[in-house]
Amino acid sequence: MPSKILTFDRIVDRLISLARPWFSNYLAMYSSWYGGIVVDPALMMVPLDDHLVHRGDGVFEAFLCRDWNIYMLDRHLARLDLSASALGLDIPEDRARLLEIIRDTIRAGNSGTCLVRLFASRGPGGFSANPYESAETQLYVIATAFQPLPPEKYEKGVRLATSTIPAKTDFATIKSCNYLLNVLMKKEARDAGADYPVSVDENGFLAEGATENIGIVTRDGRFLIPRFRRILRGITVTRAVELAETLLGREITGIAEADITREQAFEAAEMLVMGTSIHVLPVVEYDGKKIGNGRPGPVFRRLLDLFSRDETKNTEVLTAVA
Ligand SMILES: Cc1ncc(COP(=O)(O)O)c(C=O)c1O
Repeated sequence: MPSKILTFDRIVDRLISLARPWFSNYLAMYSSWYGGIVVDPALMMVPLDDHLVHRGDGVFEAFLCRDWNIYMLDRHLARLDLSASALGLDIPEDRARLLEIIRDTIRAGNSGTCLVRLFASRGPGGFSANPYESAETQLYVIATAFQPLPPEKYEKGVRLATSTIPAKTDFATIKSCNYLLNVLMKKEARDAGADYPVSVDENGFLAEGATENIGIVTRDGRFLIPRFRRILRGITVTRAVELAETLLGREITGIAEADITREQAFEAAEMLVMGTSIHVLPVVEYDGKKIGNGRPGPVFRRLLDLFSRDETKNTEVLTAVA
């Protein structure tokens, strides 16, 4: 049967009738291309000729809004600026307007607890690899329902698996929309029945997860995280290091960036996964080997508690949007 050429009206009819189960999670989307906010999930689209789509030419941030407050939003926006300048991409709005758009989108979504993703794209204008085809950079902000992990992941811990997907180059330090390696890592871990992957560089040092950073606590109490050379400088791991300073002399004896091998991780007292939507999770199994005593450890517990307090009490890092 030949493919139909559709009229504009037929497309509108089609969009009106489109409903997919996952749409119920999509709360609101701002699009500079549309010039405003849409709340109908069928309209939450990006033009195919936006170089974000066909070349991954854009940068993004993901942050959590809980009870109308966004944890460490300033840091996320500072990292967005770094990523954009690394690609020579101008974010189409200044900081004040960006904040306004984020607030308006969350309000339009009508849910004070949601996950917000902000994309700054090279913009539409052709299909080649040439970024100069794009005349106008674009901004898309989408608020989706936040689905926290089941509590048992915090109570019983998670399983981590080494990825065969090569660790990224120093491009890993840019939060670009070029996430194919991250996607393949995640797929591999899921296919293997693990919760999270971790990449290893060619020197055998642990790098990062698909969208998380990792760390270990050695048996002599040192909290070690991989060097920020070929991994993303996570907002969460950075905060974890700051918060962990209050544990010095008690649960931990030192904090450092280090080259961490798999073998060191196998010998660790604790292993942690850290990221925006999870804060911190305890790894109880890595590549089939038990970590520590196979149960979430004291540093994990203390850090999780510190994050919860930091999120609700530390007004310096909270930005009210209500
Ligand atoms: C590749 C990668 N590493 C680490 C992280 C963790 O960073 P953050 O704590 O800022 O969420 C992310 C976050 O999405 C990521 O994409």
